[in-house]
Amino acid sequence: MSEQVLYRKYRPKSFDEVVGQEHVIGALINAVKMNRVAHAYLFSGPRGVGKTTSARLLAKALNCIGKERPCNACQSCLDFNEGRSMNLIEIDAASNRGIDEIRELRESVRFVPASGEHKIYIIDEVHMLTREAFNALLKTLEEPPAHAVFVLATTDSEKVPATIISRTQHYDFRRPRIAELTGRLQKMAKSEGVALDDTGARLIALAAEGSFRDSESILGQIMAVEDKTITAAEVEEILGLPRRQSIKKLFELVLDKDAPAALKLIADLSDAGYDLPYVQKLLLQYYRAVLFLKADPKLQPIIAEDLLPEELETISARLPNFAPGEISRALAVIFDNIQRFRKTPIPQLPLELTVLELIGGKRSDTN
Ligand SMILES: Nc1ncnc2c1ncn2[C@@H]1O[C@H](COP(=O)(O)OP(=O)(O)OP(=O)(O)O)[C@@H](O)[C@H]1O
Ligand SMILES: [Mg+2]
Ligand SMILES: [Zn+2]
Repeated sequence: MSEQVLYRKYRPKSFDEVVGQEHVIGALINAVKMNRVAHAYLFSGPRGVGKTTSARLLAKALNCIGKERPCNACQSCLDFNEGRSMNLIEIDAASNRGIDEIRELRESVRFVPASGEHKIYIIDEVHMLTREAFNALLKTLEEPPAHAVFVLATTDSEKVPATIISRTQHYDFRRPRIAELTGRLQKMAKSEGVALDDTGARLIALAAEGSFRDSESILGQIMAVEDKTITAAEVEEILGLPRRQSIKKLFELVLDKDAPAALKLIADLSDAGYDLPYVQKLLLQYYRAVLFLKADPKLQPIIAEDLLPEELETISARLPNFAPGEISRALAVIFDNIQRFRKTPIPQLPLELTVLELIGGKRSDTN
């Protein structure tokens, strides 16, 4: 099963398959039901969280002749699912930025659909349009023909002019939680007959940085190599990530003030060609977790997203090692050294310095 196939196979076909955007989906379902669909929408939010997917679902629902819309059974729905509906026009504003493209669009918008009721124009990455193009688009949005619905999608709504925004219904898509990403990954793995362990799913979700699309393509990539079972170690290996266990080890060596062993561990990670800024970032997350858990153990849910359960256990067990005043100083040490990765002639040096400063400066008597 290739990445592409996986991605197409699991593209949501109805509203209830869209995860974690209930505030948007609820409003769209209602609008379709009540026949109160706006002429223009603005869908904003991070990459790969369902903006284009939701716009396509809206288009399909608006042209569906079934009872539950979209029914996924009528001719129009089938056309949409096969990607051959004439009533869906998708424009990528990143590569069609100019006024000519928008003028062309204004011309074509006038024609009523050959079949079905609505033509839906999705303008992706709309913030990329030139000022002239925005002005031309504004004219269309001011007097849209009855059959036309515009969905403007963007990852950067700050760059969309207020005049445009005021003509639209604006919905902000949120970044999904790790549990929402892993839930979907587990579902996909299950229906492909693949066993994916919890930590493995979490590592994929973390690597995808909040994007459903990226998490799916990573899963596809891994499934192309590993067929029946996927473990955390295999996920790390295929993504080229250092074992999280070695980073936990590094944290513990620092607390034990074992500089030689810590330096040796860094040398091993470096020899294996691992991304050391990634190690540094995870170390930062460890200390941030210490900060929160020291302040109040009830704050755990806030930091739990970025860490694995076994990592949280280790951190909790080590809390007595920290004097109150030293945590923010340690965080500053790790944070400041992140900047050094960009200009260091020796790739592992910033991490080595971090570890030495953390070990050397840890004076629990002075706070
Ligand atoms: N909320 C979601 N629920 C379930 N699957 C999702 C969701 N968001 C994205 N996906 C999956 O990721 C794929 C890509 O999503 P989509 O194209 O809708 O993202 P987008 O928000 O438009 O991103 P971009 O800003 O990069 O265009 C979908 O085909 C689907 O498989
Ligand atoms: Mg999109
Ligand atoms: Zn239908």
